[in-house]
Amino acid sequence: METVLLSSSDADLIKAAELIRSGEIVGIPTETVYGLAADARNPDAVMKIFKAKGRPADNPLIVHIADIIELEQIAHNIPDLAYKIAEKFWPGPLTIVLDKNDVIPDVTSGGLNTVGVRMPSNVIANKLIKLSGCQIAAPSANKSGYPSPTSAEHVINDMNGIIPAVVNGGDSLYGVESTVISFDDDKTIRILRPGFITRSDLLEVTENVIIDDAILHDISPDREAPSPGMKYKHYSPKANVVLVEGTLEEYCRYVNKHAGNNTYALIYDCDVDNMDITCQYETYGSSSREQAHNIFSKLRSLDEKGADNIIVRSPSKEGVGLAVYNRLLRSAGFEVISL
Ligand code: TXA
Ligand code: MG
Repeated sequence: METVLLSSSDADLIKAAELIRSGEIVGIPTETVYGLAADARNPDAVMKIFKAKGRPADNPLIVHIADIIELEQIAHNIPDLAYKIAEKFWPGPLTIVLDKNDVIPDVTSGGLNTVGVRMPSNVIANKLIKLSGCQIAAPSANKSGYPSPTSAEHVINDMNGIIPAVVNGGDSLYGVESTVISFDDDKTIRILRPGFITRSDLLEVTENVIIDDAILHDISPDREAPSPGMKYKHYSPKANVVLVEGTLEEYCRYVNKHAGNNTYALIYDCDVDNMDITCQYETYGSSSREQAHNIFSKLRSLDEKGADNIIVRSPSKEGVGLAVYNRLLRSAGFEVISL
């Protein structure tokens, strides 16, 4: 199959929406990362997503809506707190896990009786949902286990010949996936995946916001994962990634001691002039927001350069930094060097 690159013109969006309506899967831009979109209510279409990505069948997909009215079509037992959060943060990079209605088939929810719902703020995504006339199931449009795509080119790299089309919406605004939350009770939010909507943002709505333990640690074998995605290898380039925590001096010393032939240091832009490293390096921004925006595309470009090892200077764990840290921790298979 030939994969067509569509623009965001109305004519092309109508083509993409027709593909989705007819049970096909299409790469689409969102404000977080690119998604692989299908009609969430059509099990055959959703199966194609799992096949294209090589995704484990028990890992549920997020369902994307264009209007709050659609929420009650796909979910029930919706707590007041969910409405408060939706009002404050939607459209935007936040996914809310709720009890699912029967219209959402088991393939979409990975066999769970819950569904993650998100209303994207990206104008193209919003138009596409409306034009296709259905709710859209969309995981990140990468091959399972690989870093998420933040441009149409990344999607083509992973999905060329496997899907009929990708809509080009330019670089993703945020660069890391949505914050995923669930509710422990009427007043308590649990963050299952950190993103641009941070714990302190959520604390404006309720005083109980828990960061799930699996965000900073590998899930313990005796615990059932509250989010199936926590169990799987994620965001990993072909190169081996090591995350190094410590002062700039300690980091440089570590790099100079351990760098082999095809090793790259991945560092902050603001540190370049203050450090002395002997191996090749790339930068991934200075602020947490910049680092979030760049991290996946940097990991992908280092693979293209043939890197065998990437030694990353650890990002901050505060605010949006926690999302960057969480993704890198998983890229590194939890291999963290604390100096
Ligand atoms: O920003 C995003 O969320 C992007 C864009 C395309 O919207 N989508 C995305 O989907 O990142 P995906 O499938 O790559 O990641 C969804 C994560 C997975 O870790 C999955 O296990 C979790 O959300 N998830 C989905 N539904 C869930 C549910 N019902 N309960 C718990 N976790 C859920
Ligand atoms: Mg993903």
